[in-house]
Amino acid sequence: MSVSTPSNYLLKPLYHDMIARLKGADIEMPDLDARFIIEERTPYDWSDIIARPDSPITQIQHDKITSDIGQRIAGKPLSRIYGCREFWGLDFLISEDTLDPRPDSELIIDLALKHFPDQDRPLEILDLGTGSGCILTSLLSEFKNARGWGIDLSVGAVKCAKENAQKNHVAARSHFLCGSWLNGINKKFDLIVSNPPYISNQVIPTLSEEVRNHDPILALDGGDDGLEPYKELFPQLKNFLNPDGIALFEIGYDQEKDVMRLAEKAGFVQRTVHFDLAGNPRVVDISCGDK
Ligand SMILES: C[S@@+](CC[C@H](N)C(=O)[O-])C[C@H]1O[C@@H](n2cnc3c(N)ncnc32)[C@H](O)[C@@H]1O
Repeated sequence: MSVSTPSNYLLKPLYHDMIARLKGADIEMPDLDARFIIEERTPYDWSDIIARPDSPITQIQHDKITSDIGQRIAGKPLSRIYGCREFWGLDFLISEDTLDPRPDSELIIDLALKHFPDQDRPLEILDLGTGSGCILTSLLSEFKNARGWGIDLSVGAVKCAKENAQKNHVAARSHFLCGSWLNGINKKFDLIVSNPPYISNQVIPTLSEEVRNHDPILALDGGDDGLEPYKELFPQLKNFLNPDGIALFEIGYDQEKDVMRLAEKAGFVQRTVHFDLAGNPRVVDISCGDK
């Protein structure tokens, strides 16, 4: 350590200081957050913290890190501080108009890949409530000959989704439109995906501050019982699915029975619930069974 360098302008002491501050504010995984901030704001990564603990931190880097830690302690998620989130191994921009994509939603991509093992197939895909476009863009990155349409009621979300498609090199095969669900759509699809807003509006006030203060209400509010989007969409879906097409809808952990009932009522013969890594029902896969 140089005699003239204060210890918190050196990598490892700063890292430990950051962890202590985050821990003191009850941040859940302080070491992971500290590492992420260091990687974002300095040229160093985890291996430098171990192998080059005395690496110098500049004043500018230090100021940015101090500001980030302050925001994190005030309850802002790192994804909101940096305006980005990784999903399905791709980088996505997020904004105040988009949901912060959740890893659980990656199950939709997994299931689509299982259902359509031929990744060269020129699928036509519709994503209802596309938000940042993370689901559609990830699907288009896997199905190289597919084309996709992403719909969202939020103008800001549509703008963000377009940027993400560009950033991830699928813009030429994607169309993002501002509108309400299926209104104005006049074609059929092989695959319809959706992670609709499914939180009951009575539950929203009880959500964590990180969610309540940073995810847009339009992305959360599923009406009085959290089921409004399924009730509105399921009865219309058949008109927009090709005969062997399927729809994959994300659901809340306690909505399995209600959503399956709505799918049955809408005449879907094939109905399967898929579980996330925590063992919660997470995605329903519905089709007409006309294969
Ligand atoms: C839970 S977020 C999902 C966003 C993104 N697909 C994801 O998984 O991160 C639901 C999205 O549905 C959009 N939305 C809400 N009501 C809508 C409607 N009537 N028509 C179209 N989109 C709607 C919201 O703006 C939000 O982007």
